[in-house]
Amino acid sequence: MLSKKLRIATVFSGIGAFEHALKKDNIPYEIVFACDNGERELSTSYEEIMNYASENNLSDEELSKYVKSLYDSTGKENRMKTSYFANYDISEDRWYEDIRFINGKKYTNKVDIFVGGSPCQSFSNMGRRKGLEDARGTLFYNYAKLIDEIKPKVFIYENVPGMLNHDGGDTWKRIKEIFINLNYKCYDAILNGIDYGIPQRRNRLFVVGFKKDRSFSFPKATKLQTTLFDYLEENAAVRHYLGQKGFEFVTNPKYRGRAVVNNEIIRTQKANQQFNWNGDFVFEEYDKIKDRVDVLKRAYVGTWNGKKGVIRQLTYRECYRLMGFDDSYDYTKVSNLWRYRQAGNSIIVNVLEAIMSEIMKVEDFNE
Ligand SMILES: C[S@@+](CC[C@H](N)C(=O)[O-])C[C@H]1O[C@@H](n2cnc3c(N)ncnc32)[C@H](O)[C@@H]1O
Repeated sequence: MLSKKLRIATVFSGIGAFEHALKKDNIPYEIVFACDNGERELSTSYEEIMNYASENNLSDEELSKYVKSLYDSTGKENRMKTSYFANYDISEDRWYEDIRFINGKKYTNKVDIFVGGSPCQSFSNMGRRKGLEDARGTLFYNYAKLIDEIKPKVFIYENVPGMLNHDGGDTWKRIKEIFINLNYKCYDAILNGIDYGIPQRRNRLFVVGFKKDRSFSFPKATKLQTTLFDYLEENAAVRHYLGQKGFEFVTNPKYRGRAVVNNEIIRTQKANQQFNWNGDFVFEEYDKIKDRVDVLKRAYVGTWNGKKGVIRQLTYRECYRLMGFDDSYDYTKVSNLWRYRQAGNSIIVNVLEAIMSEIMKVEDFNE
């Protein structure tokens, strides 16, 4: 049992799948910091920013503000921050725009669990250096450097399974070496959403690292008890129904690679899901919607598998449910496109809950 709040920090935080997992499981926690640049890019280079900081003797706080002002000048909103702030207890001073400018030394031994998954980048053009320096220039370098500086009791790293074969296996080999060099006892596995209660085929690589020598096992797979149909909303909003072109596209076997209808177990949700008829769709028999004048006005009534009916996208809420987010999650602060995008880029919450439950068996966070 926890006798105090778990101190967590996340980077590439997105919409906070880990934070939501703790919330769902009533594990008390406080956010030491979180960080996401909202998929925006700076035109000023890392070197230019660091030169400016040293010339002007900027403190950590001043550097953070300067980086924020550069991101603000892109004129683009940080939509990850918008969603994150709508859902979790966090203040401005604990939010970072960019992992590259966090000074982890200020958090040494102040974080229990550190979570994040860096985008897959190549190390190959860098030649062999030693340990952490081997990754310099990649966002993984910044992630690993923060582990080294913060020294969390536990870290959780997540990535796409393709990471294992990236650059002929070289990237993964070096990442593992770096984790081991940081003196963490590391365990890795590929886990699929369907094995942890969610009817979505979504394989992801997870690494769990312990500062102390802990003997950890990844959670065992469980038998899937639900299908897509257990996650659907009763009266989907009209805007999700397809017209004739959409109906014909998603039911055309030629496009099965892009769109599928009434799959009990959905495919991996992606950033571009539901747009241009990509992803999983739902067929509703005519009887079910025959009294919905608004739907009949918009939707094309066609025949699918010998049945008369209409087809619609998954709603935003359904996509979040199928990522393991419960209905307390607020997606409404961002545009429709970003609602789908943020769900598709997140981590299945149930998988994190299962991992966390195993971590709690072997790590003592009260120490
Ligand atoms: C695949 S998403 C991770 C989503 C997250 N796991 C979740 O639960 O929603 C990767 C994230 O890294 C962020 N990112 C990319 N470069 C970054 C940087 N330099 N600093 C901070 N965040 C960055 C992107 O904005 C994106 O949200």
